[in-house]
Amino acid sequence: MKRLAVLASGEGTNLEAIFEAIEREEVAAEVGLVISDRPTAPALGRARRREVKARFLDPRPFATREEYDCALLEILQQESVDLVVLAGFMRLLSPVLVKEFYLRIMNIHPSLLPAFPGLNAVEQALDHGVKVTGCTVHFVDEGLDTGPIILQQAVPILEIDTIETLHQRIHAVEHRLYPRAIDLFSRDKLTVKGRRCYLGER
Ligand code: GAR
Repeated sequence: MKRLAVLASGEGTNLEAIFEAIEREEVAAEVGLVISDRPTAPALGRARRREVKARFLDPRPFATREEYDCALLEILQQESVDLVVLAGFMRLLSPVLVKEFYLRIMNIHPSLLPAFPGLNAVEQALDHGVKVTGCTVHFVDEGLDTGPIILQQAVPILEIDTIETLHQRIHAVEHRLYPRAIDLFSRDKLTVKGRRCYLGER
């Protein structure tokens, strides 16, 4: 059984969806711990309610991003983590962590990458006037939302959409897509060649 560390800065609805999919036995993995860079992140409460280890790792004592990521790396190694799952973790990871866990860190992003990377992806899509957006699960590399794409799903944009209504529909799709991607990883069904990620038996 693969052991996950979920990193989350905010609400943690994706974390909740992962917990629920594990409970329904749709994901062959366990959440070993949840880490947040925000002490009040509801994601930490969601972990504690399930008696899963929840840690706030305060960025303030660390002078650089690299130093923070070294501390993160130490925790992940101590906890024998197989896969790092970024679920609304609003920090860019530095090479120190990405190199050590390459193809073992996933992220979910609320757009069809490579469109609208970075912050405020839902607002970016609305402002651009695209008719279709969506969400992407990808492996993390050293760029900003640039790693190999595992799964994507489209979400149409309606004329009446606001950032909130659109993000709500994207969230609903994320909650199904992320557990599927984690389950594929857990069952050794993801192979990456170059930029392309193949789903199936290795
Ligand atoms: C999700 O929509 C996720 O795609 C987005 O943050 C939200 C977290 O929601 N991530 C990014 O924008 C990363 N660039 P949650 O805390 O309810 O899971």
